[in-house]
Amino acid sequence: MLTNKKIILGVCGGIAAYKAIELLRLLTKAGADVHVIMTRAAQEFVTPLTFQTLSSNPVHTELFNLIAEREIGHISLADQADLFMIVPATANVIGKIAAGIADDMLTTTVMATKAPVLFAPAMNVNMFTNRIYQENEQKLRQLGYLFVDPIRGSLACGWQGEGKLASPESIFEGACAALTAKDLPGRTILITAGPTREEIDPVRYISNHSSGKMGYALARAACRRGANVLLISGPTALTEPDGVRVVNVTSASEMHHEVMAHVGECDVIIKAAAVADYRPLVRNATKIKKKSDSVTIELAKNPDILAELGKIHHRPFLVGFAAETDALAANAEKKLREKNLDMIVANDVSLADAGFNVDTNRALLLFRDGSSSDCGLMSKEQLAGAILDHVAARLKIH
Ligand code: PMT
Repeated sequence: MLTNKKIILGVCGGIAAYKAIELLRLLTKAGADVHVIMTRAAQEFVTPLTFQTLSSNPVHTELFNLIAEREIGHISLADQADLFMIVPATANVIGKIAAGIADDMLTTTVMATKAPVLFAPAMNVNMFTNRIYQENEQKLRQLGYLFVDPIRGSLACGWQGEGKLASPESIFEGACAALTAKDLPGRTILITAGPTREEIDPVRYISNHSSGKMGYALARAACRRGANVLLISGPTALTEPDGVRVVNVTSASEMHHEVMAHVGECDVIIKAAAVADYRPLVRNATKIKKKSDSVTIELAKNPDILAELGKIHHRPFLVGFAAETDALAANAEKKLREKNLDMIVANDVSLADAGFNVDTNRALLLFRDGSSSDCGLMSKEQLAGAILDHVAARLKIH
């Protein structure tokens, strides 16, 4: 996602400065080339050597550095940046930038950049709610500067409240969003993810191996591209994606109810969930006792949510998935036609590096007009991007 992206990471003086180290690791792991600028105060909390070692780039601390300024270092850094991040951003530095003050390496470089600038503020709750700070933040927002809001929690100063630095993962997500073109602005996309559980009795259920990774990757990618995302999720162990409305469900009938309740507000529906086709006809109110050598559980058919969506007259753009173990293209093609879809993502779930509960996938994309696109082995993040490229292109003509 961030391969070959040049990111400047400005670190200010606050106790949360150590969390910028974790963020740096996330950014470099995703392929970014990160150049760190530290204010004098930041160096009181963490050492430049830590950032230098982890970024594999020299850390900038002084504006009047004779070696770096041979090439007007602050201007060349500012020019080359794809994204400028300030983490943690203190009230002092935000105030200086809002007032146009450029009196050190960080504030001078940010003044000179044309790259998007993303602040992740962290400060005491009373500083955060101070009207001077709030006005400075509003001014910068109106000028197009981006923010990852701080969260509520116990602050290092002993106070409780808003002002705690957002998690490195949330700030990383903010960076990805800042670097993603907004080709789905204002579109409402409903995505289903994960398995469903069909209860046999209070302690047992029928389910499948879906982890939710494919659907959550789609939700994150759609959100970065500017869509309003509603994620209807079966039970998973995943963290809710930032900026996404999440509705948690357990069974296929709950998922059916939620999807139908929201269909009217959607431009696109992507059904990545592995919905159980059958449920026990009767759910035992108490735990079934171990008595005989064998037990027969009668199953009843669940509603086919996708097929029902396909029958709606003015329906959203519909993307289905097909989890197959044989005859991938033929079976997926049949589902595309029978369920009246615009597009289907066929994956062979018998492969070790595709389908359920892995970070990668291999998919064949089939379209209503008979065209197809073969996506080889790639991460689920990348596949989500490829699927949404097609959705965005086809929405223009839908
Ligand atoms: O969650 P992960 O671990 O990342 O795994 C990803 C995945 C393998 C679950 C995903 O890539 C995938 O293939 N999802 C669809 C699984 C599935 O239920 O496939 P299917 O071929 O049985 O169903 C076809 C389509 O109909 C699917 O879009 C499904 O959501 C939908 N369906 C199925 C049954 C039903 N009762 N209602 C439905 O809407």
